[in-house]
Amino acid sequence: MSVDEHLQGTAGSPRGVAQEHRSLDTGSKTAERFVALAFFISFVATIGLGVTFWVGGQAQLEGAFLFVALIGIGAGIVSWGKYLVPHGPFVQEREELRSSDEDRAAFYASLERGSKQLGRRKFLGRMLGLSLGAFGIIQLFPFLRSLGPVPGKALFVTHWKKDSQVVKVDGTAVLASDLEVGGAMTVFPRGFEGNALDQVILIRPATTEIVTRPGRETWGPQGYLAFSKVCTHAGCPVGLYQELTEQLLCPCHQSLFDVLTGATPVFGPAPRPLPQLPLKIDSSGNLLAQNGFDQPIGPGFWER
Ligand code: FES
Repeated sequence: MSVDEHLQGTAGSPRGVAQEHRSLDTGSKTAERFVALAFFISFVATIGLGVTFWVGGQAQLEGAFLFVALIGIGAGIVSWGKYLVPHGPFVQEREELRSSDEDRAAFYASLERGSKQLGRRKFLGRMLGLSLGAFGIIQLFPFLRSLGPVPGKALFVTHWKKDSQVVKVDGTAVLASDLEVGGAMTVFPRGFEGNALDQVILIRPATTEIVTRPGRETWGPQGYLAFSKVCTHAGCPVGLYQELTEQLLCPCHQSLFDVLTGATPVFGPAPRPLPQLPLKIDSSGNLLAQNGFDQPIGPGFWER
């Protein structure tokens, strides 16, 4: 029974009209509660999905939460459309220009009820916004997590520090007598054997001290030089030492670095030299780092 029908004066007695309105109002309230409940369940499931994802993820649980969240939103929207939106066709016959007093009273009562319903619909709209908003935010989680852990200071410093002992990948100490002239090996700081960002190529172009640049007078004792193996172009390991030309070659894009001038790039796309590790030799002949690298290793990045 629509408001228009009251205006037509064809809806029977005022008492019947009032009873019909009451039952309509009760049905509408039930539908509104159901819609609000559906959106609320969807919201809770979305939060569950986000928490599960954040703490490490569990495929079955995430699937269940996603299912409930979508079903909640779907059921809420469908029920809203089916039970709370007025359905036509609406016919208004205007036999009289003025309604009777009873009809006018019934109309005002209906109008008042309508304004209450409008208030409740506002609440439903907010619930819908809440569940859809939470669902949209949760969809960002996989993207954020795909960015990986926050690098922190890892892009700026390695595990090389003052007095780090130079060791091979199996942890044995490197001695000043280990390499012949022209030899090369991959080394690490003790305790971080095998760490990709700490790998250093140790080479020995001569047996006497080598100064690659001003300010590095003591960095190459007994002809030992050490450079980060992480290429400054795209991060590949620079592993090939060409003794004849005194150059290091990166196999990925063929960048060449001149070791005697501090691994300056002389060919290829690498934009800057490989950082040099300052070395020293203790009284027992062990190779040690004087200090860590004086600059970040690897390719450039936006904070550099
Ligand atoms: S990564 Fe070394 S040249 Fe490209």
